[in-house]
Amino acid sequence: MPNRSANNGAGLPRPASSIVAALGSEQGRRDPMPLFAELHRLGPVCPLTPGSSPYGFVINGYDAAQEALKDIRFHRLLTADPDPQDAVLRRLGGSMMFRNEPDHLRMRKVFQAVLTPRRLTGFEPMVEALTAELLDDLAKAGDNGQVVEFTDFAYRLPITVIATFLGIPRSDVDWFKDRTQRIDEYLDLGGKEPAKLAAANQAADELNDYYARMIADRRLRPRDDLVGSLVHALDSGTSGIDEQELIDNLLVLVNASFVTTMNLLTNGLELLLADPTLIEDLRDDPALAANSVEEVLRHQSSVQLISRKASTEIELAGQTIPEGSLVLILPGAANRDPAKHPDADTFDPHRDDLQHLSFGAGPFFCVGAALARMEGRAAFGQLFARFPGIELAGPAERSPSLLLRGHRSMPIRLG
Ligand code: HEM
Repeated sequence: MPNRSANNGAGLPRPASSIVAALGSEQGRRDPMPLFAELHRLGPVCPLTPGSSPYGFVINGYDAAQEALKDIRFHRLLTADPDPQDAVLRRLGGSMMFRNEPDHLRMRKVFQAVLTPRRLTGFEPMVEALTAELLDDLAKAGDNGQVVEFTDFAYRLPITVIATFLGIPRSDVDWFKDRTQRIDEYLDLGGKEPAKLAAANQAADELNDYYARMIADRRLRPRDDLVGSLVHALDSGTSGIDEQELIDNLLVLVNASFVTTMNLLTNGLELLLADPTLIEDLRDDPALAANSVEEVLRHQSSVQLISRKASTEIELAGQTIPEGSLVLILPGAANRDPAKHPDADTFDPHRDDLQHLSFGAGPFFCVGAALARMEGRAAFGQLFARFPGIELAGPAERSPSLLLRGHRSMPIRLG
């Protein structure tokens, strides 16, 4: 398929390489959407000038991105320049998140077996109760019109949910935030600076030791929580993974679970507060909370960058991607492909076709999607019923990460 017309109406179009470079700039990180629109005008899969970045192609069209995510000939990629000496790379690279078949499926099965829809459904009352409890804390802090940080709630809900699920004590949840952030910063576009690498390595070592202690503890004092079941399976030789793989996967499971969900909550609150009629709709019809979660994810994907490497020559949307090429898949751009969603830039939880690629697709589809959706429904369902006058108390500040799109500060008044 030939590339669509690339004229953006403002003179000559820029090449895709310069748009991708602009994505890494401060302005591009804050607001990548106009750059996504520029890429859409160039075509669904755009070749990049050799040497301009580690990537050979950028994939921004919805159908092409979905096809690439489902195609296991596109191998997962930990980094364009892996150095096995780095602790952070060893830990991340040991998990399902950065593995290909058959190892990926061998590990994924272990976690899919414990994250069953039945177990998750049984978990829903706890998620609703925890949401109510954390909103109580927010109400106390925001008593008498005091300004409170919504990011505190948005962090605490998903980290406490995953911690409770795994059996991590609540007193430890704050300890994870900074360590996870350091690893996420390293994974971001431009995050491979020596200082960021050193910080990420230290965080990976500390998290490794934490999970190793947790496993040892379950051996001494068997418990019926998720880590207890995983250790039991490990020691009875039925799990199919070894102890270091269990540690690496626990590290990635926790890391993957909460910044993404925290971002869903902050992105969602900002979008919903911008349209008071939607908040009224949500109050009248709590079922709209589920649609709101999907539309927030479509409009502001929590994960914006997914890297893959072509393990063989692959034809995609009329482009020939040579073996060994690195490709940059942009789920947030794909979700706004005008060929997929009419009026794609408009946030509308009432829209009919709420499909998005924010949880990935195919064999690597997010294992925690059901849990994240449950948390989003609980938060958006309860928040506006409980605090009808909730409002922003100042400008929300976006996090500088392009990889993980969300906020680092969102001051609110509960009304
Ligand atoms: C709004 C919240 C979330 C978003 C947007 C999100 C997004 C994603 C995406 C895009 C992928 C696919 C990456 C790829 O194709 O390489 C993924 C995979 C994964 N996610 Fe999530 N995630 C979320 C919440 C969670 C939660 C709550 C958990 C844990 C309970 C989790 C655990 C994982 C794991 C372990 C994988 C790797 C799956 C595999 O390799 O097969 N995620 N997630």
